[in-house]
Amino acid sequence: MSASALVPAGRGAERIASLFWWMTGGSLLVWLLVVGIALYAVYGRGGSQRSARRLIVWGGAVVPTVLLTVLLAFGLAAIPPLLAPPPVGSRTIHITGEQWWWRVRYPLPDGTSFELANELRLAVGEPVELLLESADVVHSLWIPALAGKMDLIPGRVTRLTLEPTRAGTFAGPCAEYCGDSHAFMELMVVVSAPQELQRWLERQAAPAVAPASPQAQAGQARFQSSGCGACHSVRGTSADGVVGPDLTHVGSRLRIAGGRLLNQVSSLQTWVARPQQLKPGAIMPGFHFLPEQELEVLAVYLGGLE
Ligand code: CUA
Repeated sequence: MSASALVPAGRGAERIASLFWWMTGGSLLVWLLVVGIALYAVYGRGGSQRSARRLIVWGGAVVPTVLLTVLLAFGLAAIPPLLAPPPVGSRTIHITGEQWWWRVRYPLPDGTSFELANELRLAVGEPVELLLESADVVHSLWIPALAGKMDLIPGRVTRLTLEPTRAGTFAGPCAEYCGDSHAFMELMVVVSAPQELQRWLERQAAPAVAPASPQAQAGQARFQSSGCGACHSVRGTSADGVVGPDLTHVGSRLRIAGGRLLNQVSSLQTWVARPQQLKPGAIMPGFHFLPEQELEVLAVYLGGLE
């Protein structure tokens, strides 16, 4: 998984990386010039009063002004394309910063939508517009390999255009301190071929699969009797809570708990039992009072929701 702004995989990040290299080159040039002049001042034979004055005027005023103006113009010119919206008809995806996870909502062409958490799927060459909101405090979404940073501000909608240029999995951490578990608020961005994204969208839009094994069925019964559905939705069942992440396809996600844990049955079990130990301050209550066996079937049920 890449999180490097200097190995860009998106249009925005490419512009930012090129700006970085030009700025670095420019500063290197200025530094070499200054060091050269300093060495000349120490070891040179010295010149007339007139040549000294000329050096001060050119080296101290004219050259820095010209160089800094060029770099400034170059930097400012890079901003408008970063803020430009994608072409009309591009996909729009809603992302809300919560305590401490990313709520991701994909509107579908038929007017419905589906939700998932901490994972964004995009296709190579397909620009999308993210509409960013916050449910509580200021968060900031930063996917270094794809684009620049954008804040999520309570009461406002901010926008960010992403246009992936190659496939891969990219990390998108929260880049604004937002409380206890700010460090465990990471969005996974998976970029694939358009056909693969289409298949994923169809799977995500479908309701949850019915649990197959007796263990998973017991887990579903536990899920319902423990009141999990008051906060979580599992589409196609009676669970329709909206406080926490939608779990309809939780088993298909790469990670859980805001990137904190790899998605496997054992992590789901640990998370359900002791979320506070993994993410201090998380709203999710711990179910450590349930017998181990009950926690295990719950985790098996959740893991099977692919
Ligand atoms: Cu959200 Cu830091």
